[in-house]
Amino acid sequence: MRSQAGTGPALQIEGLSVSFETARGEVRALRDVTFDIGAGEVFGLAGESGSGKSTLAYAIMRDLAPNARVAGGAIRFAGEDLLGLGPDALRSIRGRRIAMVYQDPKSALNPSMRVGQQIAEVLEIHALASRSGAAARALELLALVNIPDPPAVARAYPHQLSGGMQQRVVIAMALAGDPGLLIMDEPTTGLDVTTQARILELVANLRHDVGAAILYISHDLAVIAQVSDRVGILYAGELVELAPATRLFHHPAHPYTRGLLDALPAIDLARGFRI
Ligand SMILES: Nc1ncnc2c1ncn2[C@@H]1O[C@H](COP(=O)(O)OP(=O)(O)OP(=O)(O)O)[C@@H](O)[C@H]1O
Ligand SMILES: [Mg+2]
Repeated sequence: MRSQAGTGPALQIEGLSVSFETARGEVRALRDVTFDIGAGEVFGLAGESGSGKSTLAYAIMRDLAPNARVAGGAIRFAGEDLLGLGPDALRSIRGRRIAMVYQDPKSALNPSMRVGQQIAEVLEIHALASRSGAAARALELLALVNIPDPPAVARAYPHQLSGGMQQRVVIAMALAGDPGLLIMDEPTTGLDVTTQARILELVANLRHDVGAAILYISHDLAVIAQVSDRVGILYAGELVELAPATRLFHHPAHPYTRGLLDALPAIDLARGFRI
């Protein structure tokens, strides 16, 4: 499904440093961060609040706050340096070849537009389907994210759906452009435990069905364990550990990672490895 598959990593972050200018001086949110994600790989990024996870996501989306400054490094997507792209090239990549799912599905949905229409609009904006083709493709995308009765959900307005269903719709929208990279920043945080488990199952399956590289961000290591092939741990803007998920959980190298694991209830970790 993916043309650039097998031609090296989908995403390469090299020595990335990002700072924020504030009234109290410079905040160094990312310090010399280096890692890559292969096509079809789920890379889990964990770390406590303020460690720089979202800053990394926004840097990749080229959507950093105005007071942010990329102090160094490179972000390559399918071999192309995203930091050097002009506005036109960015528009064709953002939301299409690189898509992002945020914590709150409501912020990504238009409350006054039917769900099917919103997905169709994404397809039309990126010229991925004709008007009639877009409606049909929207139903396929709803089915891809395991929504029962796609025609009924396509006719619904966002407020008529549960939080878990809304998040599935947002994921369907993100998949509309057949992205090479899908960034998910705490996509299950606002959801109840059962719904969260279903969304995690969906993410695990998407890897096989869609073939996109996935950057999955969470402060919750048990969640990260459940979906990731490899895991990176951010601490105060530095990537202090980078390892395959099983090695990281059984043999954490960095004291900070060990502390995070010790703080986790055993039952959560066991749940994490039942995949
Ligand atoms: N626009 C901004 N201006 C100044 N400082 C900022 C800005 N955005 C983020 N920061 C700071 O950068 C650091 C990293 O923030 P970031 O939001 O990336 O953390 P996070 O790991 O996503 O946290 P959380 O788990 O709470 O979402 C924090 O110290 C934060 O206060
Ligand atoms: Mg964040």
